[in-house]
Amino acid sequence: MSYFRVENLRKTFGGIVAVNNVSFEVKKGSLVGIIGPNGCGKTTLVNLITGFLKPNSGRIYFKDKDITGMRASKIANKGIGRTFQMVKPFYRLPAFKNIIIPLFSPKVKELGEHYGDKESVALNILEDIGFERDSSVPFKPASVLPHGYLKRLEIARIIALQSELLIFDELYSGLSLAEVASISPIIERFVEDGKTVIMIEHRLKELFRIADKVIVMDQGEIIAEGSPRVIMKNEKVKKAYLGVELKR
Ligand SMILES: Nc1ncnc2c1ncn2[C@@H]1O[C@H](COP(=O)(O)OP(=O)(O)O)[C@@H](O)[C@H]1O
Ligand SMILES: [Mg+2]
Repeated sequence: MSYFRVENLRKTFGGIVAVNNVSFEVKKGSLVGIIGPNGCGKTTLVNLITGFLKPNSGRIYFKDKDITGMRASKIANKGIGRTFQMVKPFYRLPAFKNIIIPLFSPKVKELGEHYGDKESVALNILEDIGFERDSSVPFKPASVLPHGYLKRLEIARIIALQSELLIFDELYSGLSLAEVASISPIIERFVEDGKTVIMIEHRLKELFRIADKVIVMDQGEIIAEGSPRVIMKNEKVKKAYLGVELKR
């Protein structure tokens, strides 16, 4: 029995092996961080898990069901939500309308847990993640929102979808320290609420503070896995990646 696990995942692009022999497990209700230098295969791994790419080989299990190769929409409906490293809202739509769209997903219909009309549900979700309700911000087109709000909009989208396993791909990239500090409690709240989180992250200090387990990738492979405390001391990890990052 396991909540989520991948086994021997492999993905190549032509001659490039982006993900190689990757296996790990995520316990329900835990927060797992995945770190590693640029180009080491983190986003590819997220794309494999969420059905945006199909692996060459290996399996993905969610609540002991094999979800390998399923369509992205089907995986989303099963409860795995992800945010994108490159945010891609519907730029011309007001922020709150971006959140109304996921409220029409089959999973939300089936669960029926959002009460009230869709507009007020969307506004409630946005308020929850830091859009000031009585301001004009939720009504502005996404195209004029600052980067920090677009990241929050990404989070709001997977809240609306009622995802239970949340995967954040470099959520904090491009954000100021203050913005990171204000989004971090939202992530912690997900875990307190019983959700499970996988964070791909370069902001190690912030990640290590909240992660239960950290997985380190290098050149498509997992080179270390353990508690933040153990990972920080791992010599291989220090060499490959950490030294510089943690001093900042
Ligand atoms: N769609 C693609 N086509 C070809 N190569 C890709 C594609 N996506 C990723 N890659 C390559 O796979 C490797 C891993 O990329 P990526 O998963 O984006 O790494 P990370 O997210 O860790 O920075 C890189 O060498 C990248 O250039
Ligand atoms: Mg990436």
